Amino acid sequence: MTISISLTVNGAPISASIDPGTLLVQFLRDQLRLTGTHIGCDTAQCGACTVHLNGRAIKSCNILAVQAEGANVTTIEGLAQSGTLHPMQAAFKHCHGLQCGFCTPGMVMSAVSLVERQPELTGDDVRAQLDGNLCRCTGYHNIVKAVLEGAEGMKSSGTASANAAPSATAAASVTA
Ligand code: FES
Ligand code: FES
Repeated sequence: MTISISLTVNGAPISASIDPGTLLVQFLRDQLRLTGTHIGCDTAQCGACTVHLNGRAIKSCNILAVQAEGANVTTIEGLAQSGTLHPMQAAFKHCHGLQCGFCTPGMVMSAVSLVERQPELTGDDVRAQLDGNLCRCTGYHNIVKAVLEGAEGMKSSGTASANAAPSATAAASVTA
């Protein structure tokens, strides 16, 4: 049995036929091939699968794809605009806020959502608010630096007060 869903992913309208039990992360990775959204656990703890659902960070391993019916989903692939990194992506690069990079898409998506909700941040705020994103490599120091620098970049570029603008990089329509 399959079920039809329609949603917007990175600014592109998507229609698909899926198994009702498909997780949103499976739909993004396996059907849309948006593999920047990672799977790092099976307990909804690591945050590597974080995407934006209607502008809020969520763990895409923790909801069914059908629950995103009609929603706007932004993945890490939708953050950069016209080849220019989002300020938070640029800050992670500048501050060396990653080593292997496995956690980084989820970290960046959570950080962008955090700054949109709370533009004025301290390091303690970042540590507390991103406790749902685990990194196995960095010791977090440079991640916190990156989020603070990214927050400043978002404020100066005017992206701190709006949800991340999606780009139309995803396939326009997928039917499986
Ligand atoms: S894969 Fe979703 S929280 Fe770990
Ligand atoms: S950079 Fe390797 S898990 Fe975070």
